[in-house]
Amino acid sequence: MQSRLIIGNQILKLDEIGSTNDFLLEYSKQNKKVIEGLVIVADNQTFGKGQRGNVWESKKGENLTFSLFLKPEIKATNQFQLSKLISVAIIDFLDYKAVNDTKIKWPNDILVGKKKIAGILIENTIRENVLAESVVGIGLNVNQSDFNESVKNATSLKKELCNSTEFNLKSILDELLIFIDKRYLQFKKGNDTNINQLYLDRMYGYQKSMNLNLKNELITGEILGVANSGKLLLKISGKEIEVDLKQIEFVL
Ligand code: BTN
Repeated sequence: MQSRLIIGNQILKLDEIGSTNDFLLEYSKQNKKVIEGLVIVADNQTFGKGQRGNVWESKKGENLTFSLFLKPEIKATNQFQLSKLISVAIIDFLDYKAVNDTKIKWPNDILVGKKKIAGILIENTIRENVLAESVVGIGLNVNQSDFNESVKNATSLKKELCNSTEFNLKSILDELLIFIDKRYLQFKKGNDTNINQLYLDRMYGYQKSMNLNLKNELITGEILGVANSGKLLLKISGKEIEVDLKQIEFVL
């Protein structure tokens, strides 16, 4: 496997922290010279953050929980492009591991069938309409076999690949970072238009009629794609609308 150019040239491993995203946000505020591509990985998070203010649960030492520091320097209005490329890179990695039936549930949950294997939480710093810095937090379930009742529909690499032995977390991180590095370089070179199609190709429910909870109302809508702003494009009763994450939930 080839080496990496930006992502993970410096990796800081912590035994325990509240959240690797919070740690990196604070660290980058205190250290102006923090290098692009720095990775903070923790064996255990005591307050792992998920999307919509949820908690990200992950058993100590069994999975990957890490954050990357990036300087995307693109127009703030195009910030969803970063989210797309990270999702596509995780799918690349899962394809390489021969995990079948992987999907991206908008905006950026990674599923195997209908079960979640990875989650992404990106926290952006915007300066003068430019996406100056991003902390990209990724939780990938690797060796965990049992999940709490509260974590409905979760799976892991070990479960999907029916492995009897544990995966080595350091090797999995090294491999995954190579795929993220490859997609990020493509994006940095402005050569990333194919990422839009790759995202749609693997998008859960794309061009299908889906059951959705829109502003607390159960509806059926066709998923038309994603707007540049990152909003979900839907067709409901013949009318096209754009919705954001706060307004909608998939009924799985
Ligand atoms: C989600 O699907 O809700 C997003 C989950 C993101 C979890 C990761 S784990 C590493 C990083 N640190 C956090 O506190 N959250 C992200």
